[in-house]
Amino acid sequence: MIMLGIETSCDETAAAVVQDSIDPSTRILSNVVQSQHRQHRPFGGIVPEIAARSHLQHVDEVINAAMSDAAVGFGDLDGVAATGGPGLIGGVIVGVTSAKGIALARDIPFLAINHLAGHALTARLTHDVDFPYLLLLVSGGHTQLLIVNGVADYERLGTTVDDAVGEAFDKSAKLLGLGYPGGPEIEKEAIKGDPRKISLPRPMKGRDSCNFSFSGLKTAVRNKVRELRDRGLDERDIENLCSSFQAAVADVMADRSRRAAEVFKRKNPEGQHLVVAGGVAANLALRGSLEKVALQAGLKLIAPPPALCTDNGAMIAWAGLERMAQGLTSDLAFAPRPRWPLDPRAPAVGGAGVKA
Ligand code: KG4
Ligand code: ZN
Repeated sequence: MIMLGIETSCDETAAAVVQDSIDPSTRILSNVVQSQHRQHRPFGGIVPEIAARSHLQHVDEVINAAMSDAAVGFGDLDGVAATGGPGLIGGVIVGVTSAKGIALARDIPFLAINHLAGHALTARLTHDVDFPYLLLLVSGGHTQLLIVNGVADYERLGTTVDDAVGEAFDKSAKLLGLGYPGGPEIEKEAIKGDPRKISLPRPMKGRDSCNFSFSGLKTAVRNKVRELRDRGLDERDIENLCSSFQAAVADVMADRSRRAAEVFKRKNPEGQHLVVAGGVAANLALRGSLEKVALQAGLKLIAPPPALCTDNGAMIAWAGLERMAQGLTSDLAFAPRPRWPLDPRAPAVGGAGVKA
């Protein structure tokens, strides 16, 4: 089976061709990501109108590049998958409409993919990972701990009650005058700094629930920046603050994941894997602390390569293949969903920043 996957829900226009071969290393035939970071950088965050227009402008050339890199024709495709939400609606409409057009023209199945399921299933694209597994999903819009029971069966153990962790990286970077997206910028500075020089809070650490909170950490960064600015914020301060911030995030992530691993193991003694996914999973300090959590819990940590952690078309194509194998294709009447929780049974929590 060969699947085209299209991703346009945020700030990358991406398309990939993936096949369902047994050997994970031969599955990705092409993976084209056209980032809009440069266009959003002057604003320190994503501007939805700019994103939607840019997706519309580039989606055809990105799809054609993915097809020609893979050396396949549209007639070779067994299906076409696109992110159907959650995300910025203008971009989602562009991807979904393109996929529907190809499906209609070629008379092949169309598959609407939950973007979060794309991140969640990436570990099965790159590694041999069986259900159920524990998943820490960390991106620009989401921070969740879930048990992945199947391709379309997710149980949420915890979520953020305010900001997503990627958002905390992006906003803290902005406060420090660093570029967008903030995660990689903070990671670069953090390597040069000392995490013990500045103390920052660890919100939610030690709580019984598996929830997260990041707004207090962001406020603490803002207050530190003000305090340091009064006596002249220098390069060393920025490095130390980035290092402390990253250490606080890694510490909280490890604590919450440890708690979730207990719940996961109690429910699934046979479960073997802790998977980390989403853009923030590219962070090496975070991976290091999760490695320890996994070891203590008797689990193996699976972290896809950084390029497959940030948004891409391969994860959408792979989720499409997984769904097609289960007969879970979508109707051409599918309507894009700006909000689309992985676990519809999970209760709503928290404030305005929580998206699912
Ligand atoms: O999954 P993703 O590409 O898009 C969403 O679905 O949100 O995640 C983007 C987020 C951004 O907030 C970005 O700052 C963060 O992932 N990120 C990182 C790193 N690389 C990307 N955060 C920390 N360290 C990184 N190396
Ligand atoms: Zn994402």
